[in-house]
Amino acid sequence: MMNLTLFVSFFVLGVIGWVIYKIFIWPFYISPLRKIPGPPSENPITGNFKELTTEESGFSEPQHRWVKKYGNIVKYHGLFNEPTLYIADSKIIQGMTLSNTYNFVKPFNASALAIAGIGLFFAEGENHRRQRKMMNPAFTYSNVKEMAPAFVRITLILKGLIENEVKLGKSNINLSPYLSKTTLDMIGIVGFSYEFNSLTSSNELAAAYESVFNLPASNLRIAISLLANYVPLVRQIPVDINKKFKNACAIIERVSKKLTEEKYNEAKYGELKGKDLLSLLININKTLPDEEKINDTELKHQIMTFLIAGHETTNVTTCWALHLLAQHPHEQDLLREELVKAFPDKSNFNPTYDEINSLEYLNCVTKETLRLNPPLPTITRTNLKDENTPIFIGVSALHKSTEIWGPTADKYNPKRWLDPSSIKDVTNLNYMPFFNGARGCIGSKVALVEIKILLGMLIRNFVFQPIEGLHIRRKVFPTPKPEPYLGLAVSIVES
Ligand code: HEM
Repeated sequence: MMNLTLFVSFFVLGVIGWVIYKIFIWPFYISPLRKIPGPPSENPITGNFKELTTEESGFSEPQHRWVKKYGNIVKYHGLFNEPTLYIADSKIIQGMTLSNTYNFVKPFNASALAIAGIGLFFAEGENHRRQRKMMNPAFTYSNVKEMAPAFVRITLILKGLIENEVKLGKSNINLSPYLSKTTLDMIGIVGFSYEFNSLTSSNELAAAYESVFNLPASNLRIAISLLANYVPLVRQIPVDINKKFKNACAIIERVSKKLTEEKYNEAKYGELKGKDLLSLLININKTLPDEEKINDTELKHQIMTFLIAGHETTNVTTCWALHLLAQHPHEQDLLREELVKAFPDKSNFNPTYDEINSLEYLNCVTKETLRLNPPLPTITRTNLKDENTPIFIGVSALHKSTEIWGPTADKYNPKRWLDPSSIKDVTNLNYMPFFNGARGCIGSKVALVEIKILLGMLIRNFVFQPIEGLHIRRKVFPTPKPEPYLGLAVSIVES
């Protein structure tokens, strides 16, 4: 009995000692990061998270302030005071993206993995190199240009739905669900030749994503999501948030499995003729030696990855593009002028890949939106070679740095992209909405043509204005979309 008491006492003392060491001693007296300047920790359990998650403009604003105050390398405190680096320094980023990519791995993120699977986005090292090499050919110019007609067709459905609302006398429209369903339907077709039809019918996959991405970012949701990385059992607590999350993950996985099986069945009868990404991947896979092939589970995970990476990002970007254009009517008019010139008959908006990419001002508007509101404002990594230090690459801080963009860095000005002197300091290491290097976005060409077709047709057909009294913020979690929703006053362009 005595021995047991002694053992328990030592155990409890050990745990208390370890907690004190991790939270109070390591971060401030031993960690190699302790001397790097940065904001003081606000709380031993939540570090600086409160400031990061409560500010109305979202996760990246406090970090911008810190960069201004402490410089391009800032140390702040994560959960349990964990020292975390925030980096807005192009030279360091160059080392991380171009030379030592595989020394910087993505930190474990239980919730994101459950939604996106361990596809290309979360694969690491040799596994990533093999998958990327095999997938690159599916994203070449000749394949992506074939996708334009599908983007036009789905945008036409969206246009019809908005037109109906306006004709029924409703001018203030919540565009968030429309745009989210539009981009889901688009990735369904170009990704898998699959008609989700979520714009025109109820769809369980759209509802699943809605339940994960469109609920308010309550403290409990954020806490569960963060704690699940340390204690996976947190997801088993029977609260509504967990039930909805697990239900959504089950649907996403089931649909992805079904899509893989259907394509495999089709592939039994020879080479797949579809130009969708999944058909291209299955065809490429067949030609590879066994050791380079991706297996069935990996393929299912690629589908989960494409579904989320290819749908939420383009949705967020299009939402902010419309919001910014509504707030800047002059820029909206300039864009419309360009579109009217290129498509004098608005009922005949049917651009090819090259035609939409040749529109100069549309290109500027897209770039400027991705500069001010990148869907991934920070890129997270862990340095394997250095105490597993968590690192946040400050994409949005670089995008708003006055050293790079001049005194108007935080102003919306699509025209800056036409003035060589305004962008003379811009490189792919300080403007990187798609990141770069071996882990840069594989779908950037797909995304750009999709967003431009969507914006092009919408601005050619409608005028968007802010709704008086509706205050739109940037959501903090899980993705930086407009909150409470993208509501705009919409009217029809007559000719
Ligand atoms: C505006 C739209 C988009 C933006 C801003 C964007 C941005 C990014 C960024 C920043 C990364 C790197 C993330 C990291 O390494 O932590 C990434 C990776 C990735 N994106 Fe995109 N993306 C967009 C659209 C798409 C689309 C349409 C697809 C698919 C069709 C896609 C598929 C992927 C995949 C598979 C990866 C992982 C690449 C790898 O690690 O090799 N993305 N994206």
